[in-house]
This record gives sequence, structure tokens and C-alpha cells, in this order.
Amino acid sequence: MQDAAPQTIHLADYRPYPFRLDEVDLTFRLAPGATRVLSRIRFVPLEAGADLWLDGEGLRLISARIDGTALAISPDSTGLRIPATALPSGPFLWEAEVEIAPQANTALEGLYMSGGMYCTQCEAEGFRKITFYPDRPDVMAPFRVRVEGDMPVLLSNGNLLAEGPGWADWFDPWPKPAYLFALVAGDLRAHSGRFTTRSGRDVALNIWVRPGDEGRCDWALQSLIRSMEWDEQVYGREYDLDIFNIVAVDDFNMGAMENKGLNIFNSKLVLASPETATDTDYERIEAVIAHEYFHNWTGNRITCRDWFQLCLKEGLTVYRDQQFTGDMRSHAVKRIEDVLVLRARQFREDAGPLAHPVRPESFVEINNFYTATVYEKGAELIGMLRRLVGNEGYARALDLYFSRHDGQACTIEDWLKVFEDATGRDLTQFKRWYEQAGTPRVSVREDWRDGRFTLTLSQHLPATPGQPEKRPLHIPVAVGLLGPNGDEVVPTTILELTEVEQQFVFDGLAARPIPSILRDFSAPVILDHPQDDAARAFVLAHDTDPFTRWEAGRALSKQVLARMITEGTSPAADWLDGMARVLRDDTLDPAFRALALRLPGEDDMAQTLHDAGLVPDPDRIHRARTRMAETLARHLSADLPSLWASLRQSGPFSPTAEAAGARALRNTVLALLNRIDDGRHAAAAWAEASTMTDRIAALGCLIESGRGTAELAEFASQWAHDRLVMDKWFAVQISHAKPDLAVETTARLASRPDFDWKNPNRFRAVIGALAANHAGFHQGDGSGYRLVADWLIRLDPVNPQTAARMSTAFETLARYDADRQDLIREELARLQVTPGLSRDLSEMTARMLG
Ligand code: ARG
Ligand code: ZN
Repeated sequence: MQDAAPQTIHLADYRPYPFRLDEVDLTFRLAPGATRVLSRIRFVPLEAGADLWLDGEGLRLISARIDGTALAISPDSTGLRIPATALPSGPFLWEAEVEIAPQANTALEGLYMSGGMYCTQCEAEGFRKITFYPDRPDVMAPFRVRVEGDMPVLLSNGNLLAEGPGWADWFDPWPKPAYLFALVAGDLRAHSGRFTTRSGRDVALNIWVRPGDEGRCDWALQSLIRSMEWDEQVYGREYDLDIFNIVAVDDFNMGAMENKGLNIFNSKLVLASPETATDTDYERIEAVIAHEYFHNWTGNRITCRDWFQLCLKEGLTVYRDQQFTGDMRSHAVKRIEDVLVLRARQFREDAGPLAHPVRPESFVEINNFYTATVYEKGAELIGMLRRLVGNEGYARALDLYFSRHDGQACTIEDWLKVFEDATGRDLTQFKRWYEQAGTPRVSVREDWRDGRFTLTLSQHLPATPGQPEKRPLHIPVAVGLLGPNGDEVVPTTILELTEVEQQFVFDGLAARPIPSILRDFSAPVILDHPQDDAARAFVLAHDTDPFTRWEAGRALSKQVLARMITEGTSPAADWLDGMARVLRDDTLDPAFRALALRLPGEDDMAQTLHDAGLVPDPDRIHRARTRMAETLARHLSADLPSLWASLRQSGPFSPTAEAAGARALRNTVLALLNRIDDGRHAAAAWAEASTMTDRIAALGCLIESGRGTAELAEFASQWAHDRLVMDKWFAVQISHAKPDLAVETTARLASRPDFDWKNPNRFRAVIGALAANHAGFHQGDGSGYRLVADWLIRLDPVNPQTAARMSTAFETLARYDADRQDLIREELARLQVTPGLSRDLSEMTARMLG
């Protein structure tokens, strides 16, 4: 059958489903090539005369019955329709049997196989690849599931009712949409624990992994226990089943999935040991375990009415996991890390052809909207709401949200109404944050006259695709004022910018203050605050807010680097001295010092230059940044070796934030030393490394100084059996390759037999690493673009979701010179005309080509 042209789905077209489902009863007879799925569902009509529509894709229909009478129906490629005239007038029982082939499912959506086990991924619309069903989040029902298969462990959602050899019966009493359905079957081992909820429910906790991996699960288990405690303490939310299962799978398109009672994770976000996982891995595992657990309330108990409301669960849940990590570790460091990610991914997205509102109004393929905008900017909107209503208002609003909407499928309107009702604030203007795409620019003017300090703030939101005109946003700008001796003369105040331009006056000051603006990054905006180097250095030295302190140093670094790129100047002395002070200040948290010493990234600089009306030259940026690092290293050369030596850790490994912070600073120092010592310290670091963090850091340095061949070989022979560790081995060689070697390194690694490109982690470790090597990917001859496009064409028929996601490598095309733009367009055009291109990737190329 010829597929119809892809349909655009619009928020405005939402209609409720005309039936209610009382209970869903499923039986799975598992077999790799031919799994049978039997369904029995009672439908209750809610509207007279409605047809029955069931989604279904790639299903072989064996039989279908209504109230026991066999039906002769032929589904099309998207599902099946039974006209109202053929339906009983009241409630009826739908029974169907379908056949699917999990082994042939390489898209990793629906029921598929990974490393010999069965697993599922149903969000967003994967359940329709399992059976005929109203696959939409506002249709909720309890699920009863029987799993039959020749596997030792058979899991599904909810509580285990009974099991025997080759079968297990599960029941999930909490009504849920199909996207939260999950099934796992395999030869698995559990690392187990228990948790008693505040009201006394005893919960069995299991982390399920393949035999041999049991020893790498404890960090995940402890992270889960901390998450359960935290959600009780901070949000008053308890777990609601007798069992909580987490399963690690090697082949997974995203990070993890919050299926009710049965979370499924990419194994890289579960497995950790000091020998195999870096500190960044430990932190991410803790955060993602928390994220998926927190979804049990924000996502599962209260879900989304339709996929346009995705940020309702994702923005809020990201916000919650960020708060959690701040509480577990350091709020200052976490905020800086989050802002770095936001700028690197979300500001980048907002600045290009893929810009879309936090709540989009249309889509072709919903999987293309699991973006930094929906997730990370969505979380920023929650943070802004909280700043506007205060901590107590936020707590009241959340309590009301949980009590009013438990068990419902909700919208952003419901969410905002809760805040209005709980706090009395009018959020009409604030709602525009959900509707308008793009990163606002906020400009600051200072004025000092007769003891009166005036801040004039103005806002501008640039046009984005489909949104030429924008209206002013409601922006909370956190401001503090510092006196000339560095004391805080006005503590943090939230200025509410609602007009295009507004003045804020501070009276009664003895001397002209130095303002500290956008404390804690109070809004996701680009700040234009013309300040000279001395004022920035002053804020860096004196501010009470750790974020603005770091930001002042960052702005200074970017200013210096921009001048180095465009004018070929040398780094300013003020900047070198400021960095030296940070390096030497051992009253500062080492993790903070590591972040403050990190130079702005090349992609970030390319965007900054573009925003300033210049055309970025990737090679020039790379050379200037290298020169900046070398100059800094030389300036600090008297301090670096002793600091490096003093940060050496002894004793057993500890994954705490404190120990990780010391390692981060030590490896930042190592990277600086490596600029001027021809790899000597890196070789020593390699020899003494006892953690994966240190080993990878040393390896990166060795590669950058043109060495590392022997070490790479040693690493590969030690870890050839470990997929997750080998992903790091692949990636490090590409991320640290010199610009003119990056493409050939990638091509060489991609031709190895162990480049298992159908595994998304491995694909990202190689092709994704090239896309992230700014100067390497943007080589002027277009070879980087060509290689990435070649691989997207190869991956797309196998795994469209991951191919589409990776195509965002091209989203920055408009920044570059005409030749590079032509080369990128050529590749996008080549992708677009590829026969049989997926809906996922064709939506992406169409949007990027504009
Ligand atoms: N809900 C998951 C999470 O954020 C993401 C799963 C999305 N998967 C997908 N294929 N779109 O935790
Ligand atoms: Zn999520």
C-alpha cells in the first residue's frame, strides 16, 4: 500500500476520544520472529454515533471480534476504523489478536529486542506498534498483562499477581495512557533493596541487568532511594505500588523512560563503577534516576492531554530533578552546569530553523519535539514562575496541582490556572513564554544622578520560523547592587519586566553601585549589559551570587576571546589576573573553580559572533581559543604543577560531589599544563589514573598533544568486552582530534568491525562526536558535512528517530559563510530526496531547509 503524505497535526484540532476504556487486558506470547498479542478491552461510548478509531502500525491482524462476533476488517497503514453503524449502541468488548516481530524491530520503538532480551519503548506513539489501540495520552485505563515466554524474568507494569514457569501476571491499578505501558523479558539479574514510604508502604526495589552487571548497580539503587525520600520531603509525594523496577538495556534511543512501576533505562544511565564510569556519568545517573522516578507524579499520576502539552510533564520534571541535584550536591555548581547546557543546546535551537515554542502548535512527527526547548527551557519556565510567586506560593500551587488534577490528563492552561488560583497572580502575559519561540534579549542601561540609580531594562524577541511578530514577555530579572567596597547594598530583588522598556529606580545610595544582574540566571534570556572589563572583574571578585560571579568571568572570557578572534589581539592582562585569582582562591569550591577556568566553547563563540553580526570562521575560532589557553597556561605556569600535585587523591574512590569537584579541578589544571608541557603531565596522569574520570582526561590530553597511540591500544585491549567503556574510547579520539584530522579519524573508526552503528550509543559516540567537534565538523571542504549526511542516510531506514535527532548537527547553518551554507544545504537536499526517507528525518530536513 502506498503511504499517504505525512500529516501535520495541530493543537487547535484537539478533540476528546469518544469512548472510555474500563480495563485493558493483554496477553503476550513472546517469540522473536512472531509474537502474538491478544487484547480484550471494554469500550464505553461517550458520544452517540462516534466511529471507533484504533491506531495500529505494522501489525498483522489475526482476528478481531466485537462482543464475540468476528469482524472482517482491513486496517490501513495507520490503524483501523469501525463505523458507528457497525457498533453496538452501548458498551462492548473488543478482542483482537495480532502478530508482531520484535526481532525485526530496529527502530527501537514498540516491542523490540536488545542483547537477547525483549523490551518496549512506547512514548510517544510506540504502543500502536504493539496492538490496535487509541494510542493517545488522554485515554487512560488500568492494565492487566499476562506475559508468556521462555525467559527467566517476565515483567510488566504495576504489581505482580502471580507467576509460574514461563508466565507472569501483572496488574497496574493506576489508570494510565498506553505510552506508559512496558514489558521486559529476559535472562536478567536484580540488584535489590527496599524502601518504606512515609505512610508505611513497603516497596521492593529492583535494578535489573544482564548477568555480570549486578556489581555496577548500587549507585543507581542508592540514587533511587534518595529520590524517593526527597520527593516525600520536598513535594510530599509518595510512591504508590508495592514494587519499583528499573531495567537497563543497551539499545535505547534516548536516556530513559518512566513507564509506571517499570522504568526502562539506557544502560549507560544505570551501570557505574569507578573503573568504568566518569564523575559526569555518576552525576547523570543520579539525575536521570531521579527524573524518571519523579515522573511517577509529574507525568504518570498527572499526565498530558495531548503531545503538545509535553512540557507539562517534562519541563516540570526536569525542574524537579535539577532541584534534587542541587540539594544532593551544590546549587551553585548545578545552576552553572544547567545554564551551560541550556545555552549550548536550547539557545542554539532557538537561534536556528528548528526554533519552536515550549508548547508547539503543530508537528509532523512528535519524536522530533523531545527537544532542549521542551525540556530545558520548559524547566526554566517553572523556575521563573517560582520566582514570580515566591517559594510559598509555589508550594501552594503544587499542592493544588496534585490535589486538583490527580488521575487526569492536563494542559498548560490547567497548570497556569493552578498558580493563579493558589496565588492570585494574573499569568496571562506569562503564558506567552509557552507560545512564543526564541530567546529574548534583555538590554540594560545604567544611570546615576543625584544619589539615584536607575536601571533601564528593555526586551526584544527576534522573529522565529512562523512567528514574525512577537509580544513582550513577563520576565523576572533578579538584581542586586554592590557598593564600591564590594559590600552588597541592595540584596536580591526581582524586577518584573513586562513592557518593551521599563525603568527601575533605587534611591538612598551613598555612591554609584555596581549592579549584579540576572542573579541565579533568573530568566532564559541573553543579557546585553555593556560593562567594561574592570566592572566584570569586580563582580567576579565580590558578588554574593555564585552564578553572576561565574557569569561575570564568563562574559569577560568571551569578550577577550571575541577580540582575539576578530582583531588577533593577545588576551588582556585583567582577564589573566582574574583567572589567576580564581585558580589560587582555595576558599572557593573546587568544582566552581573548574567551571570558572573552563574557556568558552567554540560552538558558543560561533553563535556569539553571529549574534554580533559577524561571520564565524571555525578554524580561526579554534586557533584563537588554543592561543588563549596557551597564554593562560603560561601565565599560570608557576602555580599549575604544584596545584595539580596537591589535588591528587588517595584512599578509596568516592563518587561524592566533593571528590568529583577536586578531580574536575585537577583535570582542568592538567588540560592547561598540557598546553605547554608536551604531554609530560598527561603521561604521568595516565600512569597513575585509577578512575575512569582520570583515565579519559589523561587520554584526551595525550591525543591533543599528538600522542596516545600506545595508551589507546592498551585501553582498547583492556575494555574490548565493555560496550559502554568502548563508547568513550571511540568518542575521545574524535572530540580531541585536531580540526583537520577529525573527519579522517571518524571515517577510520567508523570502518572498524566494532563500530556497531545500529546501537544508538555507539552511533552517537562516533558520528555525534564529529558533529560536536566544531572546527572538525565545519572543515571548509565540506567533508564533515558529507560524512555525517552519509551516515544519516544509512541509519534512517534502520532507526529514523536517532537519525532525525542527529540531523540537528546542521541546524546552525545560517551562522556560517556562503560557501559553508551551500555545502550544508547540498547535504540537506541530498537527504531530502533520498527514496523512502522517514517521516522523522524528512520533517527535520524540510524545517532546516526552510
Ligand atoms: N519521557 C522520557 C523522559 O524524558 C523520554 C522518552 C522519549 N522517547 C521518545 N522516543 N520520544 O524521561
Ligand atoms: Zn522526562
